[in-house]
Amino acid sequence: MFFLGIDIGTGGTRAVLVDTTGRVIASAASEHAPFRATSDGWAEQDPADWSRAAQESIRAVLAASGQPASAIACVGLTGQMHGAVLLDAAGAVLRPALIWCDTRSAPQCDWLHRTLGRARLMELTCNPALPNFTLPKLLWVRDTEPEIFDRVAHLLCPKDYVRFCLSGTYAMDVQEASGTLLLDVAHRRWSKEVAQAAGVPLTWLPELFESAEICAKISAEAAARTGLLAGTPIVAGAGDQGAGAVGMGILKPGAVSVTIGTSGVVFAATDRPVHDPAGRLHTFCHAVPGRWHVMGVTQAAGLSLRWYRDTFRPGTSYDALSQLAAQVPAGSEGLFWAPYLMGERTPHLDPEARAAFVGLTAAHGQEHLTRAVLEGVTYSLRDTFTLFAELGIPAHGRVRLGGGGARSALWRQMQADIYGHPVEILTAEEGGAFGAALLAGVGVGAWKDVDAACEMALHVAEHREPQATARAVYEQGYAVYRRIYPALRGLRQG
Ligand code: XUL
Repeated sequence: MFFLGIDIGTGGTRAVLVDTTGRVIASAASEHAPFRATSDGWAEQDPADWSRAAQESIRAVLAASGQPASAIACVGLTGQMHGAVLLDAAGAVLRPALIWCDTRSAPQCDWLHRTLGRARLMELTCNPALPNFTLPKLLWVRDTEPEIFDRVAHLLCPKDYVRFCLSGTYAMDVQEASGTLLLDVAHRRWSKEVAQAAGVPLTWLPELFESAEICAKISAEAAARTGLLAGTPIVAGAGDQGAGAVGMGILKPGAVSVTIGTSGVVFAATDRPVHDPAGRLHTFCHAVPGRWHVMGVTQAAGLSLRWYRDTFRPGTSYDALSQLAAQVPAGSEGLFWAPYLMGERTPHLDPEARAAFVGLTAAHGQEHLTRAVLEGVTYSLRDTFTLFAELGIPAHGRVRLGGGGARSALWRQMQADIYGHPVEILTAEEGGAFGAALLAGVGVGAWKDVDAACEMALHVAEHREPQATARAVYEQGYAVYRRIYPALRGLRQG
């Protein structure tokens, strides 16, 4: 008996097969077409491309495992959060999806704050309106493309659209739904008040489930396309951050992870919906019933490094970039990177923020630029630890690292040194897809609950302590870094 986890990311889709001991027995991936971005903050992808990539990666993982489809007991889905997928009454996609890093809907956020009141919106959803969330994206379509808005009958997030393609069922889990700004996060149900104020009929919203609940089955058509058996159950799953936290065992208060993918997320589990009155952290339902989480998001984390590489060192591997960065000491000899390539969420909540290298001299070379990018992204993630401390959110013990950023030993050590916490990585590094597979296993009773699944499946592969010398350099560097954003903002307004 195996569990299939599928992660519809931004750059590509990954599928993993996990056995009843929680071991990954096969994995496969399929790239997406790059997302279309503009300098004024648009970011779009075609939902059909996700569905194509899911199909390919399912076929590939089945082939790689050598297992028959009948051995797959359950499927779990996860993926990039917040994207607005708009469907008509027949289930046809009405326009490309506005994805998580699209920030065009700032005016619609202002409108929501004026209409409902920012305080009331935060009371209802635990979060302020941000252009990254789904509802403001939908309202942008209302204001700008009314002929499309008139035909909307269903609103889904990316992985839920893939579920629809696999099963014909409209469904969403409460963790994902938290990022739509339409959920009453404290009570884990759609907020009628927000939907009504925003003019969104409740019929557009899919049925809600907890993450490990079975909510759909593979359809006969999807079976023919993917090689899975018709009738295979699908659990609700969770957004990439929720499923990733399951895959890293971040389930109880005090446990914290940092995941550096395209975006970077510092994630802490809580046993109640704790929220930042200033709205700088997101407060969402966790993928475990009766639990919540907070997270701070750096918009351009891995994206900073990819942008840097593609612009200045096209074709260089990430390993080679790490080696380059290792040639210069901690602190990059006074060079800083402010990573605001796609605006910023935590802690600035500023879709207009812009990136910068600060402190360049003629003595700096590519090795400094490379290291400064890694350090700047990590300082930005440290900002979330600063907020945790301010709000009394416990972050004790070891911080678990995930995502592409955890594959570089240099970046792992840098994270320990900049956060001032020991860090560790786990043996299974498939992140969200792995967590989704564990949720699928829980859904069919292979483990009694998510805690039991994690207890059996997770193993620490490496542990690192902060190093005193680097830590001292980074404490000073962080103090300088904190002064860069206000200075850049001043330039913009001036
Ligand atoms: C979380 C977020 C990103 C996306 C893309 O709030 O926006 O992590 O889920 O991975």
